[in-house]
Amino acid sequence: MASTPGRLRVEHLDDSLGITVTTPRMSWRLPPGATRQLAYRIRAGQWDSGRVESDRQLLVPYAGPALRSGERVQWSVKVWTDAGESEWAPTASWEAGLLTPADWHALWIGPPEHAEMRGRSPRPAWLLRRAFDVTGEIGSARLYATAQGLYECYLNGRRVGDLEMTPGFTSYHSRLQVQTYDVTDLLMSGGNVLGAVLSDGWYRGQTTGVRLINRFGDRTAFLAQLLVHHEDGTVTRIATDSHWQARVGEIIAADRFEGQVNDFQRAVANWASAASTGGGWAGVDVHAFDFARLASSAAPPVRRIEEIRPATVTRLDDARHVVDLGQNINGWVQFKALGPAGTSITLTHGELLDPDGDVTVGNVSTGEVDPAMHDLPWDLSHAIAPFQVDRVISAGVDGQVFEPRHTVHGFRYVRVEGYPGSLSPDDLVGVVVHTDLRRTGWFSCSDERVNRLYEAAVWSLRGNACDIPTDCPTRERMGWTGDWQLFTATAAQLFDIAGFTDKWLRDLAAEQLPNGVVRHAAPEAMPIEIHTALNMPPGSAGWGDAAVVVPWEIYRAYGDRDLLERHWRSMAAWVDYAARMAREHRHPDRAAVYPTPLPYEQYLWDTGFHWGEWLEPGTLVEFEADDFSELAALTTNRATSDQSDFATAYLAHSAQLLAHIARVLGKPEDERRYSELAASARSAWCSAWIAADGKLARDTQSNYVRALAFNLVPDELRPAMADRLVELIRKADTHLQTGFLSTAYLLPALADTGYPEVAYELLMQDTAPSWLSMIERGSTTIWEYWTAIDEDGRFAAPAPVGSLNHYGKGTVATFLNQYVAGIRPDPAHAAYQRFRIAPMPGGGLSWARGAYDCPFGRIESSWRINGDVFHLDVTVPGGTTAHVTLPDGRRFEVAPGTGSYRCIV
Ligand code: BGC
Repeated sequence: MASTPGRLRVEHLDDSLGITVTTPRMSWRLPPGATRQLAYRIRAGQWDSGRVESDRQLLVPYAGPALRSGERVQWSVKVWTDAGESEWAPTASWEAGLLTPADWHALWIGPPEHAEMRGRSPRPAWLLRRAFDVTGEIGSARLYATAQGLYECYLNGRRVGDLEMTPGFTSYHSRLQVQTYDVTDLLMSGGNVLGAVLSDGWYRGQTTGVRLINRFGDRTAFLAQLLVHHEDGTVTRIATDSHWQARVGEIIAADRFEGQVNDFQRAVANWASAASTGGGWAGVDVHAFDFARLASSAAPPVRRIEEIRPATVTRLDDARHVVDLGQNINGWVQFKALGPAGTSITLTHGELLDPDGDVTVGNVSTGEVDPAMHDLPWDLSHAIAPFQVDRVISAGVDGQVFEPRHTVHGFRYVRVEGYPGSLSPDDLVGVVVHTDLRRTGWFSCSDERVNRLYEAAVWSLRGNACDIPTDCPTRERMGWTGDWQLFTATAAQLFDIAGFTDKWLRDLAAEQLPNGVVRHAAPEAMPIEIHTALNMPPGSAGWGDAAVVVPWEIYRAYGDRDLLERHWRSMAAWVDYAARMAREHRHPDRAAVYPTPLPYEQYLWDTGFHWGEWLEPGTLVEFEADDFSELAALTTNRATSDQSDFATAYLAHSAQLLAHIARVLGKPEDERRYSELAASARSAWCSAWIAADGKLARDTQSNYVRALAFNLVPDELRPAMADRLVELIRKADTHLQTGFLSTAYLLPALADTGYPEVAYELLMQDTAPSWLSMIERGSTTIWEYWTAIDEDGRFAAPAPVGSLNHYGKGTVATFLNQYVAGIRPDPAHAAYQRFRIAPMPGGGLSWARGAYDCPFGRIESSWRINGDVFHLDVTVPGGTTAHVTLPDGRRFEVAPGTGSYRCIV
């Protein structure tokens, strides 16, 4: 049995090579058998913390001498626990990256493009290369690289590392991520060649729902520095500079939205190795782009995570095959049967089949754009370009494989055109590509449909976590703030998303306007002028609140207090903005009725544009994709109508969270101020929205859910709110009618107010709108609309059905883990250091099992019912304590270890 601490980590990363954090934070888990840490001692490089009396195991900052660029720090920790003094943990390490601009001796280089090329799309990928000699014994070698665009590096003909979509997506004006690679084994003494493939990527390729180009600039560029450390202490430095060469190779077009085209007949043999003989190389342009925004990523990298063998391949006719992966994913296809030289094969990727069984992208491609945009100075011509279409022209070389790493698609089906002969499932695989997040949450139960629902939520997160959290991996691929705001807590249960979200929050803050307004997405690629012209300016409640809700949820899940500190300004600026809007503006309708403002109105946020309870079934205008008058009417309505029920609820909610955050950060004055603001906003909400008959003036399921979930009403009114919610659910024949934002809270609100059986009835409802109707109609990811596909699994053309991969409704996974399996955080303790296990049997389930890998270790809750006896087995990790509540109401305090309980149900 190991008697040392385990799982040593730095920051929120499993691999911390090249980090630019100057005071990295270290975490560990207790040795097996230990239940409580009394003290720790860290040794990291020159630094020895000495024995520190503390139970802290998470994110302990390095406090040794300042780190030098490239410095590698070995570290270890030992602990004193109730089980005694441990041995030192096996040594772990981190390595600093290039910490300051002065450490860079490289120049930004770019391809020698004609001006005309900078204005169109899609564009080819460029090959960049530089030959160099290394003399002397090689000790170790590091490559530091980044790009404006997407890059992948090759050294002596071999691909460097296994990262994809580098350098990832950030608010490029303010932050650009640098990757560090250990290339020791790829280097040779003597002649070497370093190469890079550079394409448009997020930087200047098509982006946003209308597929604008050049959103961050019209020049791609590459920056790299290779440091070879010799055994004798000297260093050879190779960097991007004017000696590099450039040319276009086999990738003749590459765009994230449109697709990638490889003409293998134009491949440049050995282009990145010393054996290269080909000509056609030109010089590079040298640019003066800045170095100040360079930093390592707080997130794990994007990788190829999994390969999926096709479930079926169907031949439609002589020219077309349709491949079904059986799973909707984000990624691409690796195509292995390219045919004789000159064969041109086209791959079209979609989430859906049309009524003829052919692949369609009609549900997620843009088509025409809103006429309101035509007067704006943006090139909208790409909106109608092909979507997710790759093409490969064979050179007839045995073993050649097409794998389009400079695009990415959201798809389950692929139409293959031009394949000579009969395609077999062995000829291709689906490659799942996303941020390499560590899975932390599992759930299963006796109803297979519910298990499929849980996995669909998992797959929707996997489909929408390609360096940023996106709305969908297809139509827009944007880091919509509202989407991540509502899904963060669920995501944090399914995967370790701490670093991934930390990275995203930095972009949210970078994009925030000086008046505190949060843009709709982070990073934001849509010009504010377009949002304004479409009557959807930024600053929407529920979306902007991501600035507060997301850091709070990350703190609750991982105990990262520094993150709260870092984002305090951003969150306070957002809430202050909302409060100012409430105080300084009045809705004209209210002013018409009450010429003199009522006192509570200064806390009522009743103006501005808000997306509102988006996509509520029944109330939604499901506009036709090409009917922009309906969309315009909808957004105009959202911009001009009184949405204070919705906006004020969020003002109250975020102000309350900010008060909690102020308490965590030790800011008593702010805590008092934001608590008062929250209380005033709540009471304004009640004054404006509770009608004389005790119902809500806008009598919708969503509003009751929010009233309960955000504690908007005084305790004595909660039962009446819950009763009315249930009445509305019954009126809808036991169906939910909640939309984008309140669906997450629906089942917990019912369970918490004495209606667990209604929560279960909605969970098990299998007619639309419901979760299981999605599953029964064949979904493998969560849909944007409740009713995207009919009972036959098809959509009726040409009706738009929206994306089939929007994680929002997947928040039901939280209900499954926290209520059904019963693993719940204790609101007063971060990182599950103290938590509850309170399973809620019901819904005809005979057993359920949940597991959550919290920062301290694995929590498990597993129950089964035999006859009328309920059996519960729990696992509580070292360093935590749990409180078990059985269905019969009995409670137990539980120490780390395992335990079994039973009661009569
Ligand atoms: C996106 C959403 C987003 C919304 C704003 C949609 O087009 O796909 O998920 O939050 O716009 O309402």
